[in-house]
Amino acid sequence: MGMLDGKVAIVTGAGGGIGREIALAMALAGAKVVVNDIGASLTGIGETSATPGEQTKAIIEQRGGQAVTNTDSVSEWESAKRIVQSALDAFGRIDIVVNNAGILRDQIFHKMTPEEWLAVINVHLNGSFFVSRAAAEHFRAQNSGAFVHMTSTSGLIGNFGQANYSAAKLGIAALSKSIALDMQRFGVRSNCIAPFAWSRMTSSIPAETPEQKARVEKLKRMTPEKNAPLAVFLASDAAKEVNGQIFAARNNELFLFSQPRPVRSAHRSEGWTPELIAEHALPAFRAQFQPLDRSGDVFSWDPV
Ligand code: NAI
Repeated sequence: MGMLDGKVAIVTGAGGGIGREIALAMALAGAKVVVNDIGASLTGIGETSATPGEQTKAIIEQRGGQAVTNTDSVSEWESAKRIVQSALDAFGRIDIVVNNAGILRDQIFHKMTPEEWLAVINVHLNGSFFVSRAAAEHFRAQNSGAFVHMTSTSGLIGNFGQANYSAAKLGIAALSKSIALDMQRFGVRSNCIAPFAWSRMTSSIPAETPEQKARVEKLKRMTPEKNAPLAVFLASDAAKEVNGQIFAARNNELFLFSQPRPVRSAHRSEGWTPELIAEHALPAFRAQFQPLDRSGDVFSWDPV
């Protein structure tokens, strides 16, 4: 018995990288899989291709699993609805949605163009909404369903040159929590994974000096499939008590993330003026200010 026997999963962006590994693992766990991918470049600019998705489907079938491909984009409402419809057409139901499709348009903030902003928000944040929303009606009707969304430590913690991506990825964490709150009453769960993987998204990390080369060799150990067991677990009934949570997977490590809560309070019975905030609240809060950390400052040790 597989953990996902009888279930139907949509994995967006499953033509390569992390999405492919999640699709393969879900199929091995018994799910029938819709392999969605437009076969985009890393930036989403240029030609698209059905080949990456077909390759994932072929691997699933070689291993005795069942899959169909779909090449609709997640980033528009009408095409997102077709992705969900393709699961219904091929397999008659939908139980699992993995929002994984993504692109990058890194740029330092003062040079980021509106086009770079919108392209990334459209695929990651709007795409996660569109596909989730299209599936939600079916989840509501059948009183079950599981969402797994890919967030990122670039959004949860921070990174240089990724304002568009960080905003989208932290937005996805809030989207996931909102879905969990709104749909818990229908037996629907929604959780996030901040994955780590050596993929084309991370392969631009510089490897020029001997130290950088050594570091990149260690990063290459973080293969995309290391993220798949957590995705399969979260999608399965074994995770029925897990809802609205944020996890990370990094080679052989798993993490549960905190979510923002007040860490200090200050009160004055007569209320505040800007001067009083400077005089009283600032010294009270200062010790708890978050440093301007980036993901690499927090995950400061090599992957285990
Ligand atoms: P990848 O670039 O290898 O895969 C992304 C896939 O999404 C590609 O196959 C691409 O064709 C597809 N795609 C792009 N736009 C699409 C659209 N509009 N509709 C459907 N498919 C589309 O990237 P990777 O590394 O596998 O990342 C997967 C997810 O994990 C992304 O959401 C990414 O942001 C997230 N992530 C990855 C990290 C890493 O270390 N690789 C770190 C943190 C998050």
